[in-house]
Amino acid sequence: MLKGKVAFVTGSTRGIGWGIAEQFARAGAVVVIHGRAPDKVAERVAALHDAGAVASGTVGDVADPACASSALREIFREHGRLDVLVNNAGFLEDAYLGMIAAATAERLFEVNALGVLHMMQGASRLMARGGGGSIVNIASIVGSVGNAGQVAYAGSKAAVIGMTKSAAKELASRGVRVNAIAPGFIATDMTNRLPPEVYAERVASITMGRVGTPEDVAGAAMFFASDLSAYVTGQVLGVDGGMLI
Ligand code: NAI
Repeated sequence: MLKGKVAFVTGSTRGIGWGIAEQFARAGAVVVIHGRAPDKVAERVAALHDAGAVASGTVGDVADPACASSALREIFREHGRLDVLVNNAGFLEDAYLGMIAAATAERLFEVNALGVLHMMQGASRLMARGGGGSIVNIASIVGSVGNAGQVAYAGSKAAVIGMTKSAAKELASRGVRVNAIAPGFIATDMTNRLPPEVYAERVASITMGRVGTPEDVAGAAMFFASDLSAYVTGQVLGVDGGMLI
C-alpha cells in the first residue's frame, strides 16, 4: 500500500512511533527512523533491514528547529524525496494548573507543538518539490476534550489540531494533505507508568473495554499516509475504542 513511498516517523524507536514504522515497512515504504539516542535508532534501523525493508535513521530533539532541517537534508540526500511525515514524537507530564512549573509548560509546547510546526515547515517544502505528500500529526483525545491535570499537555495537543487544520488549508494547493490522529489510551511506556488504579480507571472508561495498541494507531496512520485517503485533509480521527462518543 505504501510501496516506494519514503516515510519519516518522528520518535519511532518505541511505542506508537515504532508500531507505525513497522507497519509502514511491511506495506513497502522506505522508512526513516528518528529518535534522540543514536544506539536505539541504529537498533531499529537494523531490525527493519533484517525484516527485508529499506530504512535509514536520523537523530535529534524535535524541540530544536535545527533537528528538522538536518533530518530533512539527510532524507533528501539518502532518498531524494519525502512522501509521508508522521509527527509522533511527544511526551506527557501531568500537573494541576496551580502546580505547573514554567519550564515544564514551555518544554511541553516546544516538543509537542513547536516540534510539529518545525517538521511540517521543512517537510511540506520537500513534499511539494516531489509533487505532494501526506503529513500525519499525532494529537490526543485530550486536545479536544481536555483533562484535569493536563492543562499544559492538552494545550499542546490542541495546538497540534489547530496547526493540522490550518496547514491543510495552506498546503492543499501544493498537493500536501495534513491530518491528525487523536489516540485515546494506548499501551506504551507513556501509559504503563501510571499507578495500577488509575490505569484500571482509564480502561474502564473505554467503550470497547480494552486498551489500544500501537498497531491500532498504525492502522489509522496507514489510511492517512496512503492513497486510500487521497480526498481527505484537515481531519482529526479518534483512535480511542469509543472513549469519545
Ligand atoms: P512513548 O513515550 O512510548 O514514545 C514517545 C517517543 O517520542 C519516544 O520514542 C521518545 O523518545 C520520543 N520523544 C519524546 N520527546 C522527544 C523529543 N523532544 N525529540 C525527539 N523524540 C522525542 O509514548 P507513546 O505513547 O508512543 O506516544 C507517542 C505519541 O502519541 C505522543 O505524541 C503522545 O503524546 C501521543 N499519545 C499517546 C497516547 C497514549 O495513550 N500512549 C494517547 C494520546 C496521544
